[in-house]
Amino acid sequence: MHSIYARVNNVSATISTIVMVLLGAMALSSFVFNPHPTGSLEVTSVKVFAGETRRYPHRRQEYAFVTFNITADLSSLFNWNTKQLFVYLEAEYTNAKGVRNEVVFWDRIVRRKEDAVMAVSGKNKYPFRDVSAKFKGSTAANYTLKYNLMPFVGILTYGEAARVMGPIEFPLARERVE
Ligand SMILES: *[C@@H]1O[C@H](CO)[C@@H](O)[C@H](O)[C@H]1NC(C)=O
Ligand SMILES: *[C@@H]1O[C@H](CO)[C@@H](O)[C@H](O)[C@H]1NC(C)=O
Repeated sequence: MHSIYARVNNVSATISTIVMVLLGAMALSSFVFNPHPTGSLEVTSVKVFAGETRRYPHRRQEYAFVTFNITADLSSLFNWNTKQLFVYLEAEYTNAKGVRNEVVFWDRIVRRKEDAVMAVSGKNKYPFRDVSAKFKGSTAANYTLKYNLMPFVGILTYGEAARVMGPIEFPLARERVE
C-alpha cells in the first residue's frame, strides 16, 4: 500500500518537474529567438476640431483626427509560442500643463501569421483628446507603431515596428460644424 502511494507520488513529482522544465524552456526560447519585425508608418494628416461637449455644453473640447498608412511585416514574431499580437499606434507628446501623454488611437489584434503582413490606410479608431481639453501649447507628437507579443507561456514583450521621422505639430483647432 505504502509503496504504491510513494511511487504514484514520485511519478507525479517527476512529471511536474518535467512540465516545469519544459515550460521554462518554452519561455526562455522566446527570449533566445530573435525576431526582426519591419514596418513603415506615415501620418498623412493631423487635424484638430473644437466643439462643445454634449454633457457639458459650456466646456470646449478639442479632438485630434489622424490619418495614416501602415505597411508592416510582423510575421517573424510568430513562432509556436506566439498566442497573439496586439498592434497599436501611439502618439507621445507633452501637453501645455507639462503632462506627458501616450495615447493609443488605433489598434488591431493579430492571431495568425498570415495576418501579420499588413497594409492599412486608416484613421483613428478611438477619440483622441487631451485631458486638459485642448492641444494648444502641446509639444509636437511622435507617432509610433508598436506591438505587444503575448506568448502561450512566458511574459509579454513589447516592441516598436515603425516610427514617423520627426515629431508632428498639432495644428490650431478649427470649429466643428455640426
Ligand atoms: C497613404 O495614404 C494616402 C492618403 O490616404 C495615399 O494617397 C497614399 O497613396 C498612401 N501611401 C501609401 C504608401 O500607401
Ligand atoms: C520625440 O522623439 C525625439 C527623438 O527620439 C525625442 O527627442 C523627443 O523627446 C520625443 N518627443 C516626445 C514628446 O516624446
